[in-house]
Amino acid sequence: MAGILILNGSPRAPRSNSRRYAELFAKASPVPTETVNITRTNHGELCAKAARYHDVLLVFPLYADGIPVSLLNFLKSWQDRLPPKKPRISVLINCGFYEPEQNDVAVAMIEQFCRRTGCTLGAVLKIGSGEAILDTPFVFLVRRRIRALAAAVTAGRPRVLQVTMPIPKRLFVAASAVYWENYGRRSGISKRQMQSMDIEPQPPVT
Ligand SMILES: Cc1cc2nc3c(=O)[nH]c(=O)nc-3n(C[C@H](O)[C@H](O)[C@H](O)COP(=O)(O)O)c2cc1C
Repeated sequence: MAGILILNGSPRAPRSNSRRYAELFAKASPVPTETVNITRTNHGELCAKAARYHDVLLVFPLYADGIPVSLLNFLKSWQDRLPPKKPRISVLINCGFYEPEQNDVAVAMIEQFCRRTGCTLGAVLKIGSGEAILDTPFVFLVRRRIRALAAAVTAGRPRVLQVTMPIPKRLFVAASAVYWENYGRRSGISKRQMQSMDIEPQPPVT
């Protein structure tokens, strides 16, 4: 089918940054798009839908230096249900850290999926500071890169693009620290607690 199927692989898809990135992509795309969230229960439906598209765009966040488990589980289902004419898979990934290169391992995981299944890896956009950049004046840089990604996907060009906030790294780290400390304070959690490995008090061992 002409057009692009966008799959949102964020575990919090309905209120995710990936949703916002997918919306920007849909707006920038010169061809029609359809967006669906990956859930635990819709793999069969998604595999059937994906079989009707030549181009699939995976939009997802970086989780612990890799792809989120929700996306990993979908890929496990998809690998056994790919059509004879394999799709071209493009990637729009965002991470919380400043450097777009943080996303390289996750992109390599998708590359490996393509190699093993005979799919083609299409264009890639790696976004650093992806949690923050959408609500800053630098959002225009993201829009510009997403337009370039949409053009590359449509033309079938395997471009690799990246974007992050154009500020010194030290300033980004300082601003992030203030953001997360305030966030913790609002939830009654101190900086010290956030720095510890304890998630919640453990029950006494009996
Ligand atoms: C469990 C978890 C693990 C994460 N791991 C990383 C990481 O390894 N590196 C990074 O830069 N950001 C990491 N992040 C930040 C997310 O990539 C970032 O917040 C992103 O914008 C979330 O996108 P989403 O709203 O589409 O899920 C992590 C976030 C969570 C919740």
